[in-house]
Amino acid sequence: MKDVTAVILAAGMGTRMKTDIPKVLHMVASRTLLERITSSLKSAGIEDIFAVIGYKAEMIESLFREQMRFIRQPELLGSGDALAHAVDFMTDRENAVLVTCGDTPLITKATYRKIIKAQAEEDASCVLLTSVVDDPSSYGRIVRGEAGEIARITEEKDLSAEEKKIKEINVGTYCFKKGELARYIREIEMNEKKKEFYLTDIVDILKKNGKKVISVSCDSSEHIGVNSREDLARVNTMVYRKKAKELMEAGVTIVDPDSVYIDDSASVGKDSIIFPGTVIEGEVKIGKGCRIGPFARLRPGTRLKNNVEVGNFVEICRSELGNNTRVKHHSYLGDTVAGRDVNIGAGTMTANYDGKNKYRTLIGDGAFLGVGSVLIAPVVIGPKAVVGAGSVVTKNRDVGKGRTVAGVPAVDITEKRKTT
Ligand code: UD1
Ligand code: CA
Repeated sequence: MKDVTAVILAAGMGTRMKTDIPKVLHMVASRTLLERITSSLKSAGIEDIFAVIGYKAEMIESLFREQMRFIRQPELLGSGDALAHAVDFMTDRENAVLVTCGDTPLITKATYRKIIKAQAEEDASCVLLTSVVDDPSSYGRIVRGEAGEIARITEEKDLSAEEKKIKEINVGTYCFKKGELARYIREIEMNEKKKEFYLTDIVDILKKNGKKVISVSCDSSEHIGVNSREDLARVNTMVYRKKAKELMEAGVTIVDPDSVYIDDSASVGKDSIIFPGTVIEGEVKIGKGCRIGPFARLRPGTRLKNNVEVGNFVEICRSELGNNTRVKHHSYLGDTVAGRDVNIGAGTMTANYDGKNKYRTLIGDGAFLGVGSVLIAPVVIGPKAVVGAGSVVTKNRDVGKGRTVAGVPAVDITEKRKTT
C-alpha cells in the first residue's frame, strides 16, 4: 500500500495513567502499545508510518528509530493539533492518511485494511472507525442525522443529555483523503472547555463543506483505548484470554484459562497441558505433549521439544530442552541446551551470569542431575553423566560422557563408585 501513510498520535501525557513514562511505552503481554500498533499496521501492508510524539519524546525515539518517522508536537494542544503537525511533513506521494491513536492497541490488521478499502472504494473524505459498546463513557459519540448519516462527533465533556444515550463511539481511527485533510484541518478551532484542538471536530467541518464522511465498524473487543491502569489491565486480560482460547482450539489443554499468562507470540503444540499460574513471555516454542506448571515461568528464547516436563517454580530463559527431558521442581535454567531424556533434579541452578557476561551450559542426552546441583557456566555435562545431589560443578570443569561427579567443588568419583 504505497499510497497510504499512517500517523500514530502518541504525544499525549497519559495524564490518567499517572506515569513518568510515555503511555505508548506501557506493556500489554510483554509488548509496548506502540509496538503492537506498529506491527498491526505493518502487517496490514502499510510501510510508511509517522508518529507524533511530545511527552518524553526521546524515550520513544530511541526505541523505535528504525521503524517509523517522528514528528514533534511542540505543545500538547490536542489531537487536532497533533495531526496538523504531521500533515505539514507529508509529501504529495500519498493519497490516503490513516490516523490512529497510540493508546488503542487491539485494532487488527483486518480492520485497518477495511477502513482503507472503504475510503478508496467510496472515495470518502473521511472514514471513521466506530463501535457499538455497552459502556460508551469516556469516548466521543457518533451523532447521526435522521437518515442515519454521520453529523458529527461529540466528546464526552460536551454531550447533551440526549447524546449521552448514544452507544456508538469513535474508536479514534480514521482514514482521510489526503488533500481534504490538509485543507480542512486548519479550520479546527480550540475547544473552549479543554483548551485543545479536537481532531474529532473535523467531521463537522467536512460535513458543512458538503464532503463525504462515512463509517466502518469494528468488533467490540478492538475499540478499547488505554487511558488508565485499569484499562491497561483489562487489555492485558483480553490478550491473554484470547491466546488461551486459540491454544485450546488448537488442541492444548489449559486447566484454568483465567490463571495463565501466555504471550501471543508463544506457540504450544497439541496435547500439551498448561497448569495454573504459568507465565510464558515472548517468543517461546513448546512442542507436543509437554506438561508445564503449575507456577512455571518460561522466558524469551525458550524452546521445548516434545513430552518435556517443566514443573512448579521453574524458570527457564534462552534455553532448549530435548524430547522427554524433565525439570520438575524449583529450578533455574538460563542459556542452557539440554538434550533428550535428561533428568534435572529439584533445585538445580545454572549460574549463567558473572555480573558482566552470560555463559552457556550444555547437558548431553540422558544425563542425570541430582537434587540441588549448581552448574557454573560455561560448563558441559556429557551424555549419560551423573551429577550427585548437592554438587557444585565449577566452570570449565566439564564432565565427560558417562562420568559421575559429586561434592563441592564436584570431583570425579566414577571409579570409586564402581568399587563401593
Ligand atoms: C480520543 C477522541 C475520542 C475517542 C477516543 C478513542 C479526540 C478529541 N477524542 O479521546 O473521540 O473516542 O480518543 O480512544 O481526539 N494526543 C497527541 N497530542 C495531544 C493530545 C493527544 O498526540 O496534544 C494523542 C494521545 O497521545 C492519544 C490520542 O492523541 O494517543 C488521543 O488522545 P487522548 O487524550 O487519549 O484522547 P481521548 O480522550 O481518549
Ligand atoms: Ca485515549
